[in-house]
Amino acid sequence: MSTAPLPTTSKTPSPQDGGPSFGLRNRLVRLVWGVVWLLLASWTPAPLHPWRRALLRLFGARMGHRADVRGSSRVWLPSHLVMADHALIGPKVTCYNQAPITLGERALVSQGAHLCAGTHDIDRADFPLVAKPIVIGAHAWVAAEAFVGPGAVIGEGCVLGARAVAFGRLDDWGVYAGNPARRVRERRWRSPGSGAPA
Ligand SMILES: CC(C)(COP(=O)(O)OP(=O)(O)OC[C@H]1O[C@@H](n2cnc3c(N)ncnc32)[C@H](O)[C@@H]1OP(=O)(O)O)[C@@H](O)C(=O)NCCC(=O)NCCS
Repeated sequence: MSTAPLPTTSKTPSPQDGGPSFGLRNRLVRLVWGVVWLLLASWTPAPLHPWRRALLRLFGARMGHRADVRGSSRVWLPSHLVMADHALIGPKVTCYNQAPITLGERALVSQGAHLCAGTHDIDRADFPLVAKPIVIGAHAWVAAEAFVGPGAVIGEGCVLGARAVAFGRLDDWGVYAGNPARRVRERRWRSPGSGAPA
């Protein structure tokens, strides 16, 4: 196998060579944001959600009524985060929103999940960043330690099971599990106590 170096297409150092994928302003905003979250939010208990919401809004996130990100989670860039009313990003979630990540009303992301909106063009020698938005529908549940990849659309009411890996589109009200995530059944949606579908 040849050991010759791959041809480069640009004089700017590629991400592989330690070059930046984002402009100076973006990097500065993220630096300030990282410090602000670390000092003012990362230690906060769950009931301090109004405070975390205010910080996220200050940095450009669109946060609905009672939407929350728990303090132990990390949001890469708040201006790329949209959370509808009562949407929740639980503890220790990585929200790597290099492209916008949108959560619908009452969407829930459980502990340790990874929402990853960035990848690289692996067929180009300069390995450029490719960022694709993620959409998580209203009432959907991304369970513990699941991975949601760039461009994924988790349908309304959909469940992505623990440690499942989702790329592409997952249908509304489907229950998905495994890697890659496969539909295991339909979600039955009942009002509490009624026994009947809502
Ligand atoms: C996805 C989930 C909700 C499905 O629950 P359920 O409807 O009761 O599913 P079942 O237990 O009937 O399982 C259906 C099938 O999918 C499989 N399956 C379910 N969840 C799975 C998962 N996360 N990974 C792989 N396979 C899974 C089951 O083994 C079963 O397979 P089988 O039909 O071959 O026996 C549940 O399994 C899950 O992952 N819960 C999340 C737990 C979690 O994150 N907790 C944190 C709380 S904050």
